[in-house]
Amino acid sequence: MREDLSPSRLEALLADAPMGRPFRFYEETDSTNTDALEWARRGAPHGAMILANVQRRGRGRRGRTWEGGEGRSILASFVLSDGRRAEGWGRIGGAAAVATAQAVRDLTGGPAVTKWPNDVLMHGKKLAGLLPEAVWRGDRLEALIVGIGLNVNQATADLLPQARTPPTSLRIETGKEWDRALLLRRLVEQLARTLALSPGALIAEWESLECSLHREVEVIGEDRRLKGTVHRLLPDGSLSLRGPDGAERQIRWGELSLNLHPATERHGFT
Ligand code: BTN
Repeated sequence: MREDLSPSRLEALLADAPMGRPFRFYEETDSTNTDALEWARRGAPHGAMILANVQRRGRGRRGRTWEGGEGRSILASFVLSDGRRAEGWGRIGGAAAVATAQAVRDLTGGPAVTKWPNDVLMHGKKLAGLLPEAVWRGDRLEALIVGIGLNVNQATADLLPQARTPPTSLRIETGKEWDRALLLRRLVEQLARTLALSPGALIAEWESLECSLHREVEVIGEDRRLKGTVHRLLPDGSLSLRGPDGAERQIRWGELSLNLHPATERHGFT
Protein backbone atom coordinates (compact mmCIF):
# COMPACT_ATOMS: atom_id res chain seq x y z
CA MET A 1 0.00 0.00 0.00
CA ARG A 2 2.78 2.40 -0.84
CA GLU A 3 0.66 4.72 -3.01
CA ASP A 4 -1.95 5.31 -0.33
CA LEU A 5 -0.57 8.73 0.58
CA SER A 6 -0.34 10.48 -2.80
CA PRO A 7 -0.88 14.28 -2.90
CA SER A 8 -3.90 13.91 -5.22
CA ARG A 9 -5.65 11.49 -2.83
CA LEU A 10 -4.86 13.80 0.06
CA GLU A 11 -6.29 16.80 -1.82
CA ALA A 12 -9.55 14.93 -2.28
CA LEU A 13 -9.70 13.46 1.23
CA LEU A 14 -8.78 16.66 3.03
CA ALA A 15 -10.86 19.02 0.84
CA ASP A 16 -13.35 19.71 3.62
CA ALA A 17 -11.18 18.70 6.56
CA PRO A 18 -11.29 20.88 9.68
CA MET A 19 -7.47 20.86 9.97
CA GLY A 20 -4.54 19.78 7.85
CA ARG A 21 -5.19 22.50 5.27
CA PRO A 22 -3.29 23.97 3.60
CA PHE A 23 -0.78 21.16 3.46
CA ARG A 24 2.63 20.59 1.94
CA PHE A 25 3.55 17.06 1.02
CA TYR A 26 7.17 16.00 0.61
CA GLU A 27 8.23 12.66 -0.75
CA GLU A 28 11.34 13.03 1.41
CA THR A 29 12.50 15.62 3.92
CA ASP A 30 14.76 15.93 6.97
CA SER A 31 12.07 16.59 9.58
CA THR A 32 8.46 17.67 9.13
CA ASN A 33 8.71 19.53 12.47
CA THR A 34 11.64 21.57 11.19
CA ASP A 35 9.69 22.34 7.99
CA ALA A 36 6.61 23.31 10.01
CA LEU A 37 8.66 25.57 12.33
CA GLU A 38 10.03 27.33 9.26
CA TRP A 39 6.59 27.66 7.66
CA ALA A 40 5.12 28.97 10.92
CA ARG A 41 7.85 31.66 11.11
CA ARG A 42 6.81 32.71 7.60
CA GLY A 43 3.15 32.95 8.59
CA ALA A 44 1.57 29.53 8.00
CA PRO A 45 -2.13 29.67 8.92
CA HIS A 46 -3.59 27.80 11.88
CA GLY A 47 -4.13 24.14 11.00
CA ALA A 48 -1.50 24.00 8.25
CA MET A 49 0.21 20.63 7.91
CA ILE A 50 3.52 19.32 6.64
CA LEU A 51 3.47 15.70 5.63
CA ALA A 52 6.28 13.46 4.39
CA ASN A 53 6.59 9.95 3.08
CA VAL A 54 10.20 9.63 4.27
CA GLN A 55 12.10 11.52 6.96
CA ARG A 56 15.89 11.50 6.97
CA ARG A 57 16.42 13.25 10.31
CA GLY A 58 13.18 12.85 12.21
CA ARG A 59 13.41 14.31 15.70
CA GLY A 60 11.99 12.84 18.89
CA ARG A 61 11.71 14.08 22.47
CA ARG A 62 14.76 14.29 24.73
CA GLY A 63 17.15 14.46 21.78
CA ARG A 64 16.06 11.11 20.33
CA THR A 65 15.73 10.45 16.62
CA TRP A 66 12.60 9.15 14.94
CA GLU A 67 13.06 6.70 12.09
CA GLY A 68 10.03 6.78 9.87
CA GLY A 69 9.76 3.36 8.17
CA GLU A 70 9.98 4.56 4.58
CA GLY A 71 6.57 5.13 3.05
CA ARG A 72 4.88 3.13 5.77
CA SER A 73 4.04 5.60 8.50
CA ILE A 74 2.31 8.90 9.09
CA LEU A 75 4.84 11.70 9.57
CA ALA A 76 2.89 14.89 10.05
CA SER A 77 3.43 18.25 11.74
CA PHE A 78 0.63 20.72 12.41
CA VAL A 79 0.92 24.46 12.92
CA LEU A 80 -1.30 25.76 15.73
CA SER A 81 -1.41 29.53 15.64
CA ASP A 82 -4.83 30.47 16.97
CA GLY A 83 -3.55 32.49 19.90
CA ARG A 84 -3.09 29.64 22.39
CA ARG A 85 -0.84 30.52 25.26
CA ALA A 86 2.26 28.71 26.41
CA GLU A 87 0.52 27.65 29.63
CA GLY A 88 -1.69 25.37 27.59
CA TRP A 89 1.27 23.60 26.05
CA GLY A 90 1.02 20.38 28.09
CA ARG A 91 -2.67 20.16 27.36
CA ILE A 92 -2.13 20.61 23.62
CA GLY A 93 0.34 17.73 23.49
CA GLY A 94 -2.28 15.71 25.38
CA ALA A 95 -5.03 16.76 22.96
CA ALA A 96 -2.88 15.53 20.06
CA ALA A 97 -2.13 12.23 21.81
CA VAL A 98 -5.82 11.69 22.57
CA ALA A 99 -6.69 12.56 18.96
CA THR A 100 -4.13 10.07 17.65
CA ALA A 101 -5.38 7.26 19.90
CA GLN A 102 -9.00 7.97 19.00
CA ALA A 103 -8.24 8.11 15.26
CA VAL A 104 -6.57 4.70 15.49
CA ARG A 105 -9.57 3.35 17.42
CA ASP A 106 -12.03 4.84 14.88
CA LEU A 107 -10.35 3.26 11.89
CA THR A 108 -9.04 -0.04 13.25
CA GLY A 109 -11.01 -0.73 16.41
CA GLY A 110 -7.66 -1.50 18.08
CA PRO A 111 -7.16 -0.61 21.77
CA ALA A 112 -4.88 2.42 21.37
CA VAL A 113 -4.11 4.18 24.66
CA THR A 114 -2.12 7.23 25.66
CA LYS A 115 0.98 7.23 27.84
CA TRP A 116 1.75 10.56 29.48
CA PRO A 117 3.02 12.89 28.29
CA ASN A 118 2.73 12.31 24.55
CA ASP A 119 2.92 8.68 23.47
CA VAL A 120 0.32 6.35 22.01
CA LEU A 121 0.63 2.64 22.72
CA MET A 122 -1.09 -0.53 21.68
CA HIS A 123 -0.69 -3.77 23.60
CA GLY A 124 2.02 -2.14 25.71
CA LYS A 125 4.19 -1.12 22.74
CA LYS A 126 4.76 2.30 21.24
CA LEU A 127 2.64 3.02 18.19
CA ALA A 128 3.11 6.78 17.96
CA GLY A 129 5.27 9.53 19.39
CA LEU A 130 4.50 13.23 19.46
CA LEU A 131 6.84 16.19 19.54
CA PRO A 132 5.34 19.58 20.47
CA GLU A 133 7.59 22.59 19.81
CA ALA A 134 7.11 26.34 20.17
CA VAL A 135 7.76 29.19 17.76
CA TRP A 136 8.70 32.39 19.60
CA ARG A 137 9.04 35.92 18.29
CA GLY A 138 10.90 37.71 21.07
CA ASP A 139 8.97 36.72 24.17
CA ARG A 140 5.71 36.24 22.28
CA LEU A 141 4.54 32.72 21.48
CA GLU A 142 3.71 32.83 17.80
CA ALA A 143 2.71 29.24 17.17
CA LEU A 144 2.95 25.71 18.44
CA ILE A 145 4.02 22.85 16.24
CA VAL A 146 2.74 19.37 16.98
CA GLY A 147 4.63 16.62 15.17
CA ILE A 148 3.12 13.15 15.04
CA GLY A 149 4.94 10.00 14.00
CA LEU A 150 2.49 7.10 13.75
CA ASN A 151 3.70 3.65 12.74
CA VAL A 152 1.22 2.15 10.30
CA ASN A 153 2.43 -0.51 7.87
CA GLN A 154 5.92 -1.40 9.09
CA ALA A 155 6.95 -4.98 9.71
CA THR A 156 8.90 -5.81 12.88
CA ALA A 157 12.21 -5.72 11.01
CA ASP A 158 11.52 -2.12 9.90
CA LEU A 159 11.32 -0.79 13.45
CA LEU A 160 14.27 0.25 15.57
CA PRO A 161 13.94 0.66 19.33
CA GLN A 162 13.93 4.45 19.86
CA ALA A 163 12.68 4.86 23.41
CA ARG A 164 12.20 2.84 26.58
CA THR A 165 8.98 1.30 25.28
CA PRO A 166 9.45 -1.18 22.41
CA PRO A 167 8.03 0.06 19.09
CA THR A 168 5.20 -1.44 17.10
CA SER A 169 2.97 -0.64 14.13
CA LEU A 170 -0.71 -1.02 13.35
CA ARG A 171 0.15 -3.76 10.88
CA ILE A 172 2.01 -5.73 13.56
CA GLU A 173 -0.78 -5.32 16.12
CA THR A 174 -3.78 -5.91 13.87
CA GLY A 175 -2.33 -8.28 11.27
CA LYS A 176 -3.27 -6.15 8.26
CA GLU A 177 -2.18 -3.08 6.32
CA TRP A 178 -4.04 0.21 6.65
CA ASP A 179 -4.69 3.10 4.28
CA ARG A 180 -2.64 6.01 5.67
CA ALA A 181 -4.73 8.70 3.97
CA LEU A 182 -7.93 7.40 5.58
CA LEU A 183 -6.17 7.31 8.94
CA LEU A 184 -4.91 10.84 8.43
CA ARG A 185 -8.43 12.04 7.64
CA ARG A 186 -9.60 10.58 10.99
CA LEU A 187 -6.61 12.14 12.69
CA VAL A 188 -7.34 15.69 11.49
CA GLU A 189 -11.00 15.33 12.48
CA GLN A 190 -10.05 14.10 15.93
CA LEU A 191 -7.40 16.77 16.34
CA ALA A 192 -9.88 19.56 15.52
CA ARG A 193 -12.32 18.01 18.01
CA THR A 194 -9.88 17.51 20.91
CA LEU A 195 -8.33 20.96 20.50
CA ALA A 196 -11.80 22.47 20.83
CA LEU A 197 -12.65 20.63 24.07
CA SER A 198 -12.79 22.52 27.36
CA PRO A 199 -9.85 21.74 29.69
CA GLY A 200 -12.13 19.63 31.92
CA ALA A 201 -13.59 17.61 29.04
CA LEU A 202 -10.17 17.01 27.53
CA ILE A 203 -8.66 15.83 30.80
CA ALA A 204 -11.62 13.49 31.41
CA GLU A 205 -11.21 11.93 27.96
CA TRP A 206 -7.44 11.78 28.34
CA GLU A 207 -7.77 10.01 31.70
CA SER A 208 -10.14 7.49 30.13
CA LEU A 209 -7.37 6.56 27.67
CA GLU A 210 -4.32 6.95 29.89
CA CYS A 211 -2.53 3.67 30.61
CA SER A 212 -0.50 5.02 33.54
CA LEU A 213 -3.49 6.17 35.62
CA HIS A 214 -3.52 4.57 39.10
CA ARG A 215 -0.38 2.63 38.23
CA GLU A 216 2.96 2.61 39.98
CA VAL A 217 5.50 4.41 37.84
CA GLU A 218 8.92 5.91 37.88
CA VAL A 219 9.15 9.42 36.49
CA ILE A 220 12.43 10.01 34.72
CA GLY A 221 13.28 13.69 34.57
CA GLU A 222 16.35 15.58 33.38
CA ASP A 223 18.18 15.16 36.66
CA ARG A 224 16.01 13.10 38.98
CA ARG A 225 13.86 10.01 39.23
CA LEU A 226 10.71 9.80 41.33
CA LYS A 227 8.61 6.78 42.21
CA GLY A 228 4.91 6.92 42.92
CA THR A 229 1.40 6.19 41.72
CA VAL A 230 -0.22 8.28 39.02
CA HIS A 231 -3.15 9.89 40.77
CA ARG A 232 -4.70 12.07 38.08
CA LEU A 233 -4.00 14.41 35.17
CA LEU A 234 -4.21 18.10 35.96
CA PRO A 235 -6.01 20.76 33.86
CA ASP A 236 -2.74 22.08 32.37
CA GLY A 237 -1.77 18.58 31.17
CA SER A 238 0.72 17.89 33.96
CA LEU A 239 0.56 14.78 36.08
CA SER A 240 -0.19 14.36 39.77
CA LEU A 241 2.00 11.70 41.34
CA ARG A 242 1.29 10.30 44.79
CA GLY A 243 4.57 9.39 46.46
CA PRO A 244 5.18 6.53 48.92
CA ASP A 245 4.60 9.07 51.75
CA GLY A 246 1.12 9.84 50.38
CA ALA A 247 2.08 13.36 49.32
CA GLU A 248 1.03 14.56 45.89
CA ARG A 249 3.55 16.09 43.52
CA GLN A 250 2.88 17.91 40.27
CA ILE A 251 5.05 16.64 37.43
CA ARG A 252 5.33 18.86 34.37
CA TRP A 253 8.11 17.17 32.41
CA GLY A 254 9.58 13.72 32.18
CA GLU A 255 9.03 10.24 30.85
CA LEU A 256 7.20 7.46 32.63
CA SER A 257 8.61 4.05 33.17
CA LEU A 258 5.93 1.50 34.01
CA ASN A 259 5.75 -2.20 33.79
CA LEU A 260 3.61 -2.61 30.70
CA HIS A 261 3.06 -6.29 30.81
CA PRO A 262 0.16 -7.01 28.42
CA ALA A 263 -1.64 -9.11 31.03
CA THR A 264 -1.97 -6.08 33.26
CA GLU A 265 -2.49 -3.39 30.67
CA ARG A 266 -5.67 -1.36 30.96
CA HIS A 267 -8.03 -1.31 27.98
CA GLY A 268 -8.33 -4.10 25.53
CA PHE A 269 -6.82 -6.89 27.57
CA THR A 270 -8.40 -9.42 29.80
C1 BTN B 1 9.05 10.86 20.55
O1 BTN B 1 8.34 9.91 20.88
O2 BTN B 1 10.22 10.99 20.97
C2 BTN B 1 8.48 11.88 19.61
C3 BTN B 1 8.62 11.48 18.17
C4 BTN B 1 8.02 12.48 17.21
C5 BTN B 1 8.27 12.09 15.78
C6 BTN B 1 7.50 12.94 14.81
S1 BTN B 1 7.58 12.30 13.17
C7 BTN B 1 6.85 13.74 12.53
C8 BTN B 1 7.47 14.90 13.29
N1 BTN B 1 8.73 15.33 12.66
C9 BTN B 1 9.77 15.12 13.46
O3 BTN B 1 10.95 15.38 13.17
N2 BTN B 1 9.38 14.55 14.62
C10 BTN B 1 7.93 14.40 14.67
